[in-house]
Amino acid sequence: MQFKPIRETLLAVDRLSVEFRTRTGTVRALENISVDIQTGEIVGIVGESGSGKSVLAFAIMGILDRAGKITSGRILFDGTDLLKIKRSQLRQKRGKELSMICQNPRAALNPIRKIGRQIEDVLQAHTNLASKQRRERALELLSLVRIGDPSRRYCAYPDELSGGMCQRVTIALALACSPRLAIADEPTTGLDVTTQAAVMDLIVELATKTHMATLLITHDLEIAAQYCDRLIVMHAGHIVETAKTADLFQHPRHPYTAKLIAATPAPEKDLAHLVPIPGNLPDLRGELPLCRFRHRCDRASSQCDEIPLEQKLIGNNHLVTCQHPFE
Ligand SMILES: Nc1ncnc2c1ncn2[C@@H]1O[C@H](COP(=O)(O)OP(=O)(O)O)[C@@H](O)[C@H]1O
Ligand SMILES: [Mg+2]
Repeated sequence: MQFKPIRETLLAVDRLSVEFRTRTGTVRALENISVDIQTGEIVGIVGESGSGKSVLAFAIMGILDRAGKITSGRILFDGTDLLKIKRSQLRQKRGKELSMICQNPRAALNPIRKIGRQIEDVLQAHTNLASKQRRERALELLSLVRIGDPSRRYCAYPDELSGGMCQRVTIALALACSPRLAIADEPTTGLDVTTQAAVMDLIVELATKTHMATLLITHDLEIAAQYCDRLIVMHAGHIVETAKTADLFQHPRHPYTAKLIAATPAPEKDLAHLVPIPGNLPDLRGELPLCRFRHRCDRASSQCDEIPLEQKLIGNNHLVTCQHPFE
């Protein structure tokens, strides 16, 4: 019999709401967001730009902008509510147990420190390794992320490396302490297509090898489809649908998901048949309808204005939040 690793819930975001107080009003960026991730699972979060994907990532990591306020909810990591622990404890967990791979690798790296040293800094902050062992581990990590000639590259500065190489370094930094959860927020934006695939392959290969839970945030449905076990679809600060990847593509239940799929280029699709999603995301500062997709939706009815939204279970672990889902 083949060995199957036990999956258990590692992260449980429970009815999380986040607001930003701005001079022009309160932005209700996330409302009642619940997300579960099991150990070893690769979960994708998809949705148009502005739907709240990064805000969710920052809230989980405890690095929300100062204007951002968590107004309700819990973020349970291995049973501990990250919103209740001391800042110093959270800082200790960050980088060690949960880590993040960002959209802009150059901005995440210190331009005036050698990349090998930057990896050692993380190891020094979170492990008891002696200096020699830290150097060995840094070299090992550089070769793990397939940076050729690690002992020479150890001494390189970020601006001596290409964008793809910098992203490999930030992956090495994120994985330095073998975290249990990694959040990759648009990790391939700005990279050319070949490098994108190499970086994604690398993240997924390392995640699988170390049984790490991975939250992959992307506006690119094609990338999400290729790499994720399960997908979460966000629209304007709400989760509208969650399902296994294949199930979501074969039977999208939420009108937004169906439109998102229809708007996504794929190798077999004729570009002329791509259908753009009508309208724009609503302004999150104003009065918002119960369903934030209501004004863009061709299935909407008066029910959508009257009945509070509830998540419905359709089929096998397929969740949709809509009054008129596709059956
Ligand atoms: N610091 C901030 N101040 C005010 N509004 C913000 C701030 N950060 C994000 N937002 C708002 O929160 C919403 C979600 O943003 P974001 O999570 O960055 O979207 P995504 O990552 O899905 O593109 C947007 O309406 C954005 O304008
Ligand atoms: Mg973002």
